[in-house]
Amino acid sequence: LEAADAPKPLLGKKAIVTSGPTFEPIDPVRFIANRSSGKQGHAIAESLAQAGADVTLVSGPVSLPDPAGVTLVRVETAREMLAAVTNALPADIAVFAAAVADWRAADAADQKMKKDGSGVIADLKLLENPDILATISASGPTRPALVIGFAAETQNVAEHARAKRTRKGCDWILANDVAPDTGTFGGDQNEICLITDDDEKTDERWPRQSKTGVARMLTARIIDHFA
Ligand code: CTP
Ligand code: CA
Repeated sequence: LEAADAPKPLLGKKAIVTSGPTFEPIDPVRFIANRSSGKQGHAIAESLAQAGADVTLVSGPVSLPDPAGVTLVRVETAREMLAAVTNALPADIAVFAAAVADWRAADAADQKMKKDGSGVIADLKLLENPDILATISASGPTRPALVIGFAAETQNVAEHARAKRTRKGCDWILANDVAPDTGTFGGDQNEICLITDDDEKTDERWPRQSKTGVARMLTARIIDHFA
């Protein structure tokens, strides 16, 4: 709904955004996934595009309309998401909003697994998925200048998020309070604490607002950063 002549401060900047869950197959009909609507990631992709950035949105399966003005790459698994992100490099900005499944089945079955009547559940061996945010944060010469992650936490939000920022090697973390009583999960609102520097203990608490509002505030911070 931006005017065609709205200012485009991110013109010439390339951005990659991940969004949605990943689906990790167990067999042709079953999968492991995290809960994620994709609303926040999609809103960020659209907002960066409105500010003039050339945006590639790498999304897991969601039931949302395609955001306007972005290049959409659809993936299912974490490994496909990592490949699509790597393929979209180089970029100036990368925002990792996807709820990537932490594990995948070691041996996904080719055929549907059947109950055998014994009441015993088949052993499911799991492997850890690649960490896309950490991989891209450590990608040397192709590392985007500004790498931003999310941290969904249910307690000690800022502390956990600060530790996560250091561990993952990204520049900023948007810490997200998803404690059940906040009602933010799957909803249209988000409560964000932005962490940009561990030493300075800079916790910017943003007012609780719509996911579109969060996307606009983040875009404004990114514009400031490059100004
Ligand atoms: N992330 C990623 N690839 C993964 C896991 C997470 O890119 N395999 C990214 C998410 O998109 C998010 C950030 O890392 O930006 C933090 O995700 P989160 O699940 O909170 O972190 P984890 O390191 O998986 O820790 P936890 O044990 O709390 O799930
Ligand atoms: Ca995780």
